Amino acid sequence: MILPTSSSRYSRRRFLRQLVGAGALAATGLEPLLAGDVPATPQPFRFAFVTDLHLIQNGALRSADGIAACLTAVEKLDPRPEFILVGGDLVHVARDLTVTQAEESLDLFLKIWNDHTSLPAHWVFGNHDLVGTSNPSVLPGDKHYAKGLFRDRFQLPNLFYSFDHLGWHFVILDDIDPLPNRSYIGELFSDELQFLRADLDAHRTIPTIISCHIPTLSNLPMELSIAHAISGRPTPPLKNPKSLVCTNAQDLFADLPGHNIRAVLSGHLHFLENLTQNGIPFVNCGAVCGNYWHGPMYGCPEGFGVVDLDADGSVAFDYHPYGWKA
Ligand SMILES: [Fe+2]
Repeated sequence: MILPTSSSRYSRRRFLRQLVGAGALAATGLEPLLAGDVPATPQPFRFAFVTDLHLIQNGALRSADGIAACLTAVEKLDPRPEFILVGGDLVHVARDLTVTQAEESLDLFLKIWNDHTSLPAHWVFGNHDLVGTSNPSVLPGDKHYAKGLFRDRFQLPNLFYSFDHLGWHFVILDDIDPLPNRSYIGELFSDELQFLRADLDAHRTIPTIISCHIPTLSNLPMELSIAHAISGRPTPPLKNPKSLVCTNAQDLFADLPGHNIRAVLSGHLHFLENLTQNGIPFVNCGAVCGNYWHGPMYGCPEGFGVVDLDADGSVAFDYHPYGWKA
């Protein structure tokens, strides 16, 4: 098994949370003791937000070369990022593959990753990372079915977790809900929301960045609907709108006031949006693969995000095309 390069900075806090549960952790009073892990003031630093890489099976459509080129560009950034936040969809349509095929795809991805970057990484789960959920030949009992392979390869018992880095707090959420009809919707889970509330309450004064794969806020579906209506085409373009934007995003929004949220980063739409709601920037980043390795998506070129955090708690997001030509 090829292990990813990963940071262990969040390990103690995450381990304790997983051990006793977020709510129980707060109740035990352990959280104030752990606050000593965090510098008193936020430090300035840079990280890269790299999302929607979509390695095609066996590296087809030059996807393996494209991911390598992206990572090479990330490594050349000056100043160098402290880590890479990976926004999900590492591989392409693993839900249609067998478990063996999905394992081969993710392991090829990890080989490319480890061959081209030594930066620590933190991983968000994407809908394309689901294994076998649309393949009738795959048994749901397989340990690598659905989210099992991702959990295993990245050693993540939970796909929602948090970590701290240089006085900043990061919350990683999983909003991929596979349905019995073999599709999926964007949804945050009840235990995850419970974790989120406890986690935000425990880090109320620390500048915090949240990331999930499917956006919680986007104008794109409405833009596409309006453009479609104007065009007069007979078939609606949005076959599954519940898969485009998180369906219970209002539960996340309800938890944000009174906390120190500085940005919410997502991927999924392969289209760059920078929206602001109640003073909080919601950035939906363009994709490393653009339009699934067929060129730009709605004019958004293949690229990744460069995020510069300042000591005053401000966040600057810059989209960085890496010059890929499909
Ligand atoms: Fe994607």
